[in-house]
Amino acid sequence: MGLLTFLIVPLLILGISGIIYIYREVARLMSRSALKNKVVVITDAISGLGKECSRVFHAAGARLVLCGKTWEKLEALHDALISVADPSVTFTPKLVLLDISDINNMEAMGKEIQDCYGCVDVLINNASMKMKGPLQSVSLELDEKIMDANYFGPITLVKAILPHMISRRTGQIVLVNTIQGKIGVPFRAAYAASKHAIQGFFDCLRAEVEEFDVSVSTVSPTFIRSYHIQPQPGNWEASIWKFFFRKLSYGVHPMEVAEEVLSTVSRKKQEVFMANPIPRAAVYIRTFLPELFFAVVATGVKEKHFLEEEEK
Ligand SMILES: NC(=O)c1ccc[n+]([C@@H]2O[C@H](COP(=O)([O-])OP(=O)(O)OC[C@H]3O[C@@H](n4cnc5c(N)ncnc54)[C@H](OP(=O)(O)O)[C@@H]3O)[C@@H](O)[C@H]2O)c1
Repeated sequence: MGLLTFLIVPLLILGISGIIYIYREVARLMSRSALKNKVVVITDAISGLGKECSRVFHAAGARLVLCGKTWEKLEALHDALISVADPSVTFTPKLVLLDISDINNMEAMGKEIQDCYGCVDVLINNASMKMKGPLQSVSLELDEKIMDANYFGPITLVKAILPHMISRRTGQIVLVNTIQGKIGVPFRAAYAASKHAIQGFFDCLRAEVEEFDVSVSTVSPTFIRSYHIQPQPGNWEASIWKFFFRKLSYGVHPMEVAEEVLSTVSRKKQEVFMANPIPRAAVYIRTFLPELFFAVVATGVKEKHFLEEEEK
């Protein structure tokens, strides 16, 4: 009996792991094949995540329109993609110079993007501008800049592309958002506000365009690990604040998020939240026990100030 259990349990675990692995691989292959020939637009294709999205969608055979603020970086990305890809199963990406905060130009940019292939099947809104600092030290001008890049720019582009999707009765609009579109994180007020605003816009958009067979997805990671920068342990590392919001959330690789974006697109998922248990719990606590959430956040801010005073 003992020996039988000794043999059966590992075999069972191996079998189940094998089935899960095969299931995942089949799902991944199916996700990729669903993207073949699709016209996919990625705003800010040159950022950490944008670059990975470009790589996975290109390898899946999508016809890419890569948008970015810097032409040299777009060209470098283009060259890197075509140098490793099999030309018989991939398409040469088209490049569009796009500053997402240039709202007055967005209508024309929408047309330029449309003209690349004559239609857009998937629009991935990845571009955004980050900002960190105590809110009283941030000028109104900077607040507006953040709102332009993270809210007004993306929604203007959506409005430029949407009528064509509606008239074709097909299309998908994806927003790469963040946990900060769901909870306010101190010292990132403008960023969190812009991300809350765009989350609200996308939730309304999803409901309004469903009848036209246009699907809307949001993918919200917590913290995307950079390739080169590793977390630097410091005084803050010991704080509740850091533990609550950052420590356990280190580690989502941009490639992992890009694979999730691809799977979101191919399966038309409505909302994906990529978070470790603690940030995930924070979102639920914010909803169901707001006083507790506010108390933890306030303690974190006081602790940060205390540590800064001690360092002086
Ligand atoms: N990094 C994270 O931890 C994290 C976590 C959750 C969600 N996200 C979301 O993931 C998405 C991608 O973030 P990321 O971390 O991969 O970016 P990133 O590596 O921080 O790069 C920022 C990018 O934004 C570009 N950019 C800035 N202003 C722009 C503008 N007005 N128009 C066009 N491009 C502009 C920059 O271009 P230049 O270099 O040419 O200036 C740069 O490529 C964002 O929507 C972000 O909110 C990120």
